[in-house]
Amino acid sequence: MFTTALAQRENTQLGELPLDLFAAIQSLKKELNAVILAHYYQEPDIQDIADFIGDSLQLARAAEKTNADAIIFAGVHFMAETAKILNPDKLVLLPDLNAGCSLADSCPADEFAAFKAAHPNHLVVSYINCSADIKAMSDIICTSSNAVKIVEQIPKEQPIIFAPDRNLGRYVMEQTGRDLVLWQGSCVVHETFSEKKIVQLKIVHPEAEAIAHPECESSVLRHASFIGSTAALLKYCQNSPTKEFIVATEPGIIHQMQKLAPDKHFIPAPPINNCACNECPFMRLNTLEKLYWAMKNRTPEITMSEDIRLAALRPMQRMLEMSV
Ligand code: 13P
Ligand code: SF4
Repeated sequence: MFTTALAQRENTQLGELPLDLFAAIQSLKKELNAVILAHYYQEPDIQDIADFIGDSLQLARAAEKTNADAIIFAGVHFMAETAKILNPDKLVLLPDLNAGCSLADSCPADEFAAFKAAHPNHLVVSYINCSADIKAMSDIICTSSNAVKIVEQIPKEQPIIFAPDRNLGRYVMEQTGRDLVLWQGSCVVHETFSEKKIVQLKIVHPEAEAIAHPECESSVLRHASFIGSTAALLKYCQNSPTKEFIVATEPGIIHQMQKLAPDKHFIPAPPINNCACNECPFMRLNTLEKLYWAMKNRTPEITMSEDIRLAALRPMQRMLEMSV
């Protein structure tokens, strides 16, 4: 897949970039009758040009509802794949096909099939951050904003496998009191936050509230006064009387936080090393330029076999029904 991706990328970048990229993208949007969906972790320019910005659940819902002929997905591969699962007849483009996800990659389909076979009678609840192959092996999909709600609706006596994020899985266990069998996957970004540096920041900023995404390790979550999906964190900052926040998730979300609460101060939670490891390297592969080339050349396109799509659609629909 990566060789194809590389060839497609080289192909797409032939030619001159227009001087006004924003205007050129708007005009291509009309030409394609397209909608641009963007995750909160995308760079500010992409968030600003998007028709809809959201967390994984909101983006799945927006993809399900759109009347556009083409979906330009500014996010990572599993998100664009989700849009394709819900819209087989639409053109779904991802600006950079290499925009993967460490969490999705931590759950290879063959290993997961063996894991599932070793746990007969278990219902499989999979976090949306997984490949279409894993979705196809699942009973219900969830996102960080509805995982607790979904597990709570499953009868208590029903054993459950939760995949692929062990941190979200452990958080759901704590919230629901359920005993889940966890696949041991994780996100490179959310595992990078330093508990020690967050504690030091809280000492320097005694009025600040720490808020965190449930993909973080428990050592970080225990310092958070609020835990939620990106959309939930955004809402919390807007509504809370607090003026300063230490934000333990990918710092791309701070662009919207700052826009929606301009009088407040947002401090990105620092990683363990002096690196930019709190930035998702996959999300950052998408740029405004690549978005333009993708629309101009109608590639790279997300495709999948109809068998896998149909099998992955069932647990997706179950999630959408269970999280109204
Ligand atoms: P949400 O969009 O559900 O907040 O998840 C964040 C994430 O890690 C996306 O990859
Ligand atoms: Fe995947 Fe983590 Fe990046 Fe989200 S932040 S896309 S879970 S690698």
